[in-house]
Amino acid sequence: MMQTQLAEEIARLKEEKNAVILAHNYQIPEVQDVADLVGDSLELARAATAFDADVIVFCGVDFMAQTAAILSPERRVVLPAGDACCPMAGMITAGEVRVLKERYPDAAVVCYVNTTAGVKAESDICCTSANAVKVVGSLEEERIIFVPDRNLAGYVARFTKKEILPWEGFCYVHDLFTPEEVAEARRLHPGAEVLVHPECRPGVIDRADAVLSTSGMVRHACASRARSFVIGTETGILHQLRKKSPDREFYPLSARAICTNMKKTNLAGVGRALLTLESQVTVPTDIADRARSAIERMLAVS
Ligand code: 13P
Ligand code: SF4
Repeated sequence: MMQTQLAEEIARLKEEKNAVILAHNYQIPEVQDVADLVGDSLELARAATAFDADVIVFCGVDFMAQTAAILSPERRVVLPAGDACCPMAGMITAGEVRVLKERYPDAAVVCYVNTTAGVKAESDICCTSANAVKVVGSLEEERIIFVPDRNLAGYVARFTKKEILPWEGFCYVHDLFTPEEVAEARRLHPGAEVLVHPECRPGVIDRADAVLSTSGMVRHACASRARSFVIGTETGILHQLRKKSPDREFYPLSARAICTNMKKTNLAGVGRALLTLESQVTVPTDIADRARSAIERMLAVS
């Protein structure tokens, strides 16, 4: 089927199934363009309960769909690419969090949303790249176990006097950016603002003009006086940036910054997911109930 025919079929099926399509900013352009909402992890978590729909087709990776299923247990959540996962979320287990809690009984546990439901169930509160600093600031505890992203943990530590105990996880896409690439991008694009994601290494963060979530970058670019930007995150975001700010120039910090799991979803897959309502994402009730308090506590803070 041609792309336009597929998009029309998706619109028809969406109506028939009373479905909503949510897509992360890293999805391919065609998928972003059929979505009801394109956003960062925080916006997508909020959207899970905001739409009057029976079905949520989640174009992203598994932890995002699980978060929607936890917040919206009465809706059917479907992941078109059933094997789309976040490798960073696999870098810590619920058992490892339990060991940390035993070792540091006075500490609060903050988990990045890029974690399994089991890890969220062991955590006091969840956070995303958009609200991590605020979430940590909202806690009474002076000691914080922060899992699993060491770079986000280090970024948060810059804004608090609390003791941050990081886990050694990382995102292989963001961890690849180097300070040399920032210097080279500044040489190639003089006057451009450099926007990077907090999953980047400290040396990259030090050399950036702003450190933002993916949707934070879109909002920042729309409001900025700058006319050009170097973007230090996964390249899928360039579509949203160019769509929302068509009069500005956007350059990727590195063309290698591609999350293969985010690219597993295509239009045909979205159509199939709407037709079959597979792959359904479910979370066992006992884990979902405990994970929900960590996510809802975060939503109350941000
Ligand atoms: P955002 O919440 O900023 O969109 O980040 C999600 C993510 O997976 C970053 O790699
Ligand atoms: Fe996970 Fe990195 Fe992909 Fe985001 S970009 S989903 S953190 S692997």
